[in-house]
Amino acid sequence: SAAEKDGHDWFMRKEIFEQPRAVADSLLGRHTRGGQLQLDEMRLSDQELRDIDKIIIIAAGTSFYAGMVAKYAIEHWCRVPVEVELSSEFRYRDPILDYSTLVVAISQSGETADTLQAIRHARLQRSKVLAICNTNGSTIPRESDAVIYTHAGPEIGVASTKGFLTQLVACYLLALYLAQVKGTRYGDEIALVMEQLEAMPAHISSVLDAAPEIYDLAREHVGTRSVLYLGRHAGYPVALEGALKLKELAYLHAEGFAAGELKHGPIALVEEGLPVLCVVPPRGRDQLHDKMISGIQEVRARGAYTICLAEEGDEAITPYADHVIRLPRVPVLLQPLVAVVPLQLFACELATAMGHDVDQPRNLAKSVTVE
Ligand code: G6P
Repeated sequence: SAAEKDGHDWFMRKEIFEQPRAVADSLLGRHTRGGQLQLDEMRLSDQELRDIDKIIIIAAGTSFYAGMVAKYAIEHWCRVPVEVELSSEFRYRDPILDYSTLVVAISQSGETADTLQAIRHARLQRSKVLAICNTNGSTIPRESDAVIYTHAGPEIGVASTKGFLTQLVACYLLALYLAQVKGTRYGDEIALVMEQLEAMPAHISSVLDAAPEIYDLAREHVGTRSVLYLGRHAGYPVALEGALKLKELAYLHAEGFAAGELKHGPIALVEEGLPVLCVVPPRGRDQLHDKMISGIQEVRARGAYTICLAEEGDEAITPYADHVIRLPRVPVLLQPLVAVVPLQLFACELATAMGHDVDQPRNLAKSVTVE
């Protein structure tokens, strides 16, 4: 009923709008005490965590993209090498695992068969398994050595939204916690990053305030047959997730690319009028932002209709953007928390305008309990 959906037409739309709260709830109780981050559910000892010299993240679907963001955060803050692998592939390639490998399984439902089989395999090889999960008492956390629960609340829409944002939060918390335990030089920045994380719910709300503008844009694109998504760094998994949302909901051909790879193939796909959604990194000391702009320039010169997600005040993109969606100014590693939101809104509205059932897309299930 409409009441259950809080007046929204879809559970998914309701869940998109619950994201500020879901992110805030997932940060609750993880405050720094005397400058120290506390993760009360972390059942691995500091010594066990210090012994870890490699992390393998396994997940499926949207959760896999959260894992890709986690790699950027963990490697940057903790200096521990991280691999990210689809759980359906992991077990079958004879991965190198031992007691000093931490396997992180990300699963909103905690029941995905591919991920469950993967953690069973990892534990047989004596690796420690940490689950990031939204469902209390589900199978994956029960079979893991440790767990970080996300607090998104129940997610009904088949396509994950608030589940994804809260997984990102859990990944950041894990990265910061490891940095603290391992005593890397970023250990000193934990309190600062926690403050930045605590500001995110308000930033996400400000992105949601622009929903009507994104809905107009989405409706203008009814009839398009294909959409490309470009990103770099932590914006690359965001591009992949944006494309997945459009496939899941609108049944359109959508692909995400790392912007730097354009010239190695994907640019051949660009033709007159093709919508290209570009996740522009924040301006910083590195060249990420400028390199992204040259990618946008390249696709636009070939006729693409460029929709740029760029931070407030970034005017360098203006000459190359057919449409700009503004994002709040946040650090590059945290940008996925705001950048993915317009992509969720875009896919939800485009699918709605096409007459599709957004909550129950064809051929998909909320949790896939067969391999
Ligand atoms: C299914 C759902 C996706 C989800 C994926 C992984 O395919 O339709 O939305 O991302 O499973 O689910 P999990 O519960 O393991 O995160």
